[in-house]
This record gives sequence, structure tokens and C-alpha cells, in this order.
Amino acid sequence: MTVSAPDRNAAGIQAPAHSSTEGIVTDEASLTPIVLKAMAGTTDPRLLEIVTSLVRHAHAFVQETRLTEEEFEKGLDFLVRIGKATGEKTNEAVLLADILGISSMVSLINNHRGDDATASALLGPFWRANAPHCENGDNIARGESATHGIPLAISGRVLDKQGKPIAGAHVDVWHADPIGYYENQDPSQPNMNLRGVFTTDAEGRYSLRSVRPAGYPVPTDGPCGELLRAQNRHPYRPAHVHFMVSAPGYRTLVTQVFADDAEHLNSDVVFAVVQSLVGRFAETTDEKGQRRATLQYDFILEPGEQKFPAPPIP
Ligand SMILES: [Fe+2]
Repeated sequence: MTVSAPDRNAAGIQAPAHSSTEGIVTDEASLTPIVLKAMAGTTDPRLLEIVTSLVRHAHAFVQETRLTEEEFEKGLDFLVRIGKATGEKTNEAVLLADILGISSMVSLINNHRGDDATASALLGPFWRANAPHCENGDNIARGESATHGIPLAISGRVLDKQGKPIAGAHVDVWHADPIGYYENQDPSQPNMNLRGVFTTDAEGRYSLRSVRPAGYPVPTDGPCGELLRAQNRHPYRPAHVHFMVSAPGYRTLVTQVFADDAEHLNSDVVFAVVQSLVGRFAETTDEKGQRRATLQYDFILEPGEQKFPAPPIP
């Protein structure tokens, strides 16, 4: 590119020449500080910190990979298609963050403080607000598809960090059916199948009955599926049960408990398996040959704010 002659205004008077090279790019090394300086007036200090870091890392990424213009265009097109593939029933942007491990990293830095409180895990896209309130011991397998699974009894306690029981805590449970589908993605299941909210008793105990969930693939019909195939990765999550445990005065815990014998336990496509969240799904076979499973899992809440997320998909 050639440097143009100094601008002339409408009257044809020559504008003064630049007196400084400030803000003028000379080579790739000069660009990043110029961009950062242009953003330095950002009013919100946290926004300034985040975008500054983003620009620094993005520039370094382009330099490190020596990104070609064709690759840059392809990348932008990929992001546009992520947006276009996101709608009322799917969130491809969340899925992209998940399969790149970014969602798990955000969860880890915000929720794992190395103390005794139960670790958090991703909310996932299938939580529904207003699941039915149940009595302890109730069965949340409400439909035909679910009843063909291996019966699963789940029980445990909700405790504070000193080990004292928290009475009246809500344990909101949801999971996929034995084929791997959630109720809100499978029209053949009854409304609110495999979902329920249980309330702990005076000893902090909760209990429920259900059927063993199966692992399942994340959606692969969009750009994220293309990426997984290009990376020779399988799309599966290991079998797990979602929990949201809440009580006034305690930080709401959103987590998942993974079956210790699940396929893909060591290669969760969204990297959500944390060692402490692997639960023992103990199986027995009765005299009639019927397999039965139990999961015993205690939740430890930390003091904080009881608040609930917005449902990912209404
Ligand atoms: Fe899930």
C-alpha cells in the first residue's frame, strides 16, 4: 500500500503533515499496544481488563499460528454459523464453549476453592424450572420408556461445611432416560419425566427412586459436530445425574454426579468429570435376575446466596 498525499480540504488548502507517528502502525509488533491504547478510556474497569486481555491473547494467537487470510475467513464463517445454528431449542454457542473446555474452566475457577464444599459442574442445557415437588422415596420415572431401565435408588444428606445437616434443603434432580434422552428433547416421554424436587428431612436426608440414566451424545448436526469430526473425537457424555441443591443462606450448588462404571467416563466430550463427582453406582442382581443400582451421595453446601439460573432453553 502506498502512502497517500496529505489531505486537502474543500478549499484545496493542504492539511498540516503529521507531527507524530503515535497511533500509526509500522509493523506487527507495533499493532497490539496501539489497539490497547485506543481502548484505554473504557469506563468500566472490569470491561477494560477483560477486553485488554482478550486482544492481547487474540493477537498473540494470530501471530503464533501465522494465521492465513483464508483461515481467518474460515474462522469468522464458523462463528457466524455458530450464531445461525443457535435457536430456541439449541444453543450452539454454549456447546462450542463446552467442547473447547472453556465452560469447565469457568466453572473450575469460580467454584473449586479446594475446600470441603461439593464441587460444581455445568448446568447443561436440559434443566427446567418448576419440576414437581416430591416426597422422599418417590419415583421420578414417570413413563413407559423410563420404566424399562435398571431401577436406581438415590439417597444421601445435605450438610454444611461443619458436617451439620441442613433441613428443608431442596434437591432438584434431573437426568436422561435409559436410552440417553431428556424428557424435554423426547416427545415420547411424559412431561417432567425423570425430574423432581425433594426436600431434606430434619437429619438433612433426601431419597428418591428412578432408573439408571444412559450417557448421550451432544448434538452433532451443527458446526460443533463438524469440529468434533475434524478432531476425531466422539460426541459422548458419560452417564450422570444432575443436581441443583439449595437452601436459604447457602450458595446454590449446581452439579452432576457421574456413574463410576460409565462408558466415556475418562473422555467426557465437555470435560465436566471431576474426580470428587464420580459416584459409586453399586449394582446388585436379585433372585429373579433383576439388576438394581444404588447411589449414595452427600452434598456439602457453603454459606452464600441462594439463587437460581435462568433455564437454558425455555
Ligand atoms: Fe446431562
